[in-house]
Amino acid sequence: MTSKSLNIVLGVGGGIAAYKVASLVRLLKESGNDVRVVPTPSALKFVGTATWEALSGNPVVSQVWDNVAEVPHVSIGKNADLVIVAPATADLMSRAAHGAANDLLTNVLLTATCPIVYAPAMHTEMWQNPATQKNVSTLRAHGNVVLEPAVGRLTGSDSGPGRMLEPEEIVAAALALVSAQIRDLVGRQIVITAGGTRENLDPVRFIGNRSSGKQGIALALAARDRGADVTLICANVTAQIPSGIKTVFVESGAELKNAVDAIASQSDVVVMTAAVADFAPAHVSDTKIKKADDGSAPTIELVRTPDILASLVAERKPGQFIVGFAAETGDSQASVLEHGRAKLARKGCDALVVNDVTGNHAFGSDDNEVTILLKDDAREVHIPRASKSDIAHALWDLVAPALS
Ligand SMILES: Cc1cc2nc3c(=O)[nH]c(=O)nc-3n(C[C@H](O)[C@H](O)[C@H](O)COP(=O)(O)O)c2cc1C
Repeated sequence: MTSKSLNIVLGVGGGIAAYKVASLVRLLKESGNDVRVVPTPSALKFVGTATWEALSGNPVVSQVWDNVAEVPHVSIGKNADLVIVAPATADLMSRAAHGAANDLLTNVLLTATCPIVYAPAMHTEMWQNPATQKNVSTLRAHGNVVLEPAVGRLTGSDSGPGRMLEPEEIVAAALALVSAQIRDLVGRQIVITAGGTRENLDPVRFIGNRSSGKQGIALALAARDRGADVTLICANVTAQIPSGIKTVFVESGAELKNAVDAIASQSDVVVMTAAVADFAPAHVSDTKIKKADDGSAPTIELVRTPDILASLVAERKPGQFIVGFAAETGDSQASVLEHGRAKLARKGCDALVVNDVTGNHAFGSDDNEVTILLKDDAREVHIPRASKSDIAHALWDLVAPALS
């Protein structure tokens, strides 16, 4: 349990389990928190405004048109430390997953930058329907926590998966999430690049790489959760970007460099996770390069691309922390780590995250194994195979204390 009093928004969906949520308000209040109940209009058909106002001690509105002077559709979400949605109905999760803003609660869900926890409740058929499962996956990909419902008695005499967790279980899961949260990056401006650049050969072809952007996204999400103001520069990233993260989309290394240059001077930390092409075609053909009749293949001349990490280091503002990533393979000259150490010394960045990409197991995967090398610290922090989220937090654990 947290010791700090939290501003908790309790979003209530239109399900029969709404009546149980009355005791959830009690539990949250009794642990010293301020609770603002935001029911959907459907939820008010199950439990009325008077109950929520009396239990929470706060006004209750369900539409953006109520109490407009307070601008509740923005202020409630922005001021929240935690949002709990219970019961999370199939309809409410569908609306939230698609970014709807057609009642006060969905507006709150769009403006909240704090953790959001959903406690679903519905009949088994609704819960197991692929549409609902897809919405649950989308909400999780957006960085929300969707608790698994219990298996048990449902609204009627039937039973199965879909029963809302008991209020005590929801409170424990939600408060544990907040107390586990380390907020050591509050007020920090952080830029992270993710994905892989593409260098055009002609209007059809490009030279690219296998980077999916997942590690960069995990770093952005972890930094957001630790309180940072995050900008993610995405090079050809197709994965979902969680909410609360500013995004800039680029394609080539030159575009990525421009995007980084535009924001680096205002940033406390720059993390270069993106795989930027080292070489680009010297000439980009305006027309598709045709196959020659004599069967010969064209010779493509490559040129070196600008070293973005090196120029960041050269132009860094005082106190700025710069992290590079090195996807390495060992060779006859040196091991992966030896290549990493040489790169750290050559680039002059503050930390280098080295991963062995022999056999391609890092690209597109949800986990990885890395060693973090630090410029001003003899330690070499090896992180055995772990989720990209765990690796992200391990990096922030090292970077946050180093920020002045
Ligand atoms: C008696 C009754 C019980 C309901 N229980 C649930 C439920 O437990 N879960 C659910 O997803 N929908 C349930 N529904 C359907 C929702 O009320 C309906 O989908 C509504 O649009 C949800 O509104 P919301 O998005 O504001 O939650 C129930 C409807 C009725 C009439």
